[in-house]
Amino acid sequence: MVKDVSGAWEQKSNFGGRALSASIVDEHTPVLVGEALAALALQAGGYYVDATFGRGGHTSLILQAVGREGRVLAIDRDPQAIASGRERFTDEVRLTLVHASFTDLTTLVPAHADGRPCRGVLFDLGVSSPQLDDASRGFSFRADGPLDMRMDTTHGQPVASWLSRASLDEIREVISTLGEERFARRVAQAIVSARNERPITRTGELVAIVSKAVRTREPGKHPATRTFQALRMFINDELGQLDRGLSAAEEVLAPGGRLAVISFHSLEDRAVKTFMRRESEVDPVFLDLPEVPPSARPRMKLVGRKARAAQSEVERNPRARSALLRVAEKLA
Ligand SMILES: C[S@@+](CC[C@H](N)C(=O)[O-])C[C@H]1O[C@@H](n2cnc3c(N)ncnc32)[C@H](O)[C@@H]1O
Repeated sequence: MVKDVSGAWEQKSNFGGRALSASIVDEHTPVLVGEALAALALQAGGYYVDATFGRGGHTSLILQAVGREGRVLAIDRDPQAIASGRERFTDEVRLTLVHASFTDLTTLVPAHADGRPCRGVLFDLGVSSPQLDDASRGFSFRADGPLDMRMDTTHGQPVASWLSRASLDEIREVISTLGEERFARRVAQAIVSARNERPITRTGELVAIVSKAVRTREPGKHPATRTFQALRMFINDELGQLDRGLSAAEEVLAPGGRLAVISFHSLEDRAVKTFMRRESEVDPVFLDLPEVPPSARPRMKLVGRKARAAQSEVERNPRARSALLRVAEKLA
């Protein structure tokens, strides 16, 4: 099983009629595995939720730890992730795989838990390697493909559609706030003047436009990194989903259940930190009152300090460099 998650497995998948070699685009090396599993305080026979299934790296290890009586609900908003998981875990009766957003946890968990208390929820945020590696998804500035970037390809609008209609100010605002790109105005202006010539439909076109507009290169960073990150986060409403997903996770956890969240950049981590701090403090409105009503008391407690990947993991998997794990526990 551990071999499986390190990417050593080979499998043929068929997405939309295209046979993809698993070794090219269907692998994802999970990060902070030991830390995340320890954070969930896994118990044999327990019921756990993997809110971001991806290619099931964390799920497969949770299944190993919970034994024959344990159960896992794994969800992903990307239909390809779920299709791939169904192939890989065909005979796994302890696992329920659902194509959904983690914002729906409050309906999904009661519907699938069979009355079992939920002992832990794991979020491993961001994009998976298969999403990045498959040029047809449009996530990557390294390979030309349609400018899409939707995680859930059954909903919403591709980036190309949004860029064809958004105002200069809207584009600038997204690139500035979600990409923290200091050349946001220049990039937005370049996009608007390029689209006046002809629609921007390919990632390669956007890369060329942004690369001309962003003059200063950050060491080790492609000039389109910030713009692509911003557009991806915007089109998938990643921060909005995260806020709602964290609240939903807290609601479904049983007392003593653990919430473990792995984030990959400062905007995500800020949202996780803010949520966990807020939930682990008395509502400030009631701070000076002699008695704090139950609804204003902390609902969670923080567990440990934030954790980063060890140098040895970063050497094996550069994606782990920016990974950050935060953990909280639901109070009674
Ligand atoms: C970093 S990958 C997870 C990798 C996984 N832990 C593994 O070991 O294979 C993140 C996954 O979360 C999914 N995702 C992102 N936002 C989501 C949301 N709001 N609801 C459900 N899944 C989401 C993405 O589609 C992607 O497959």
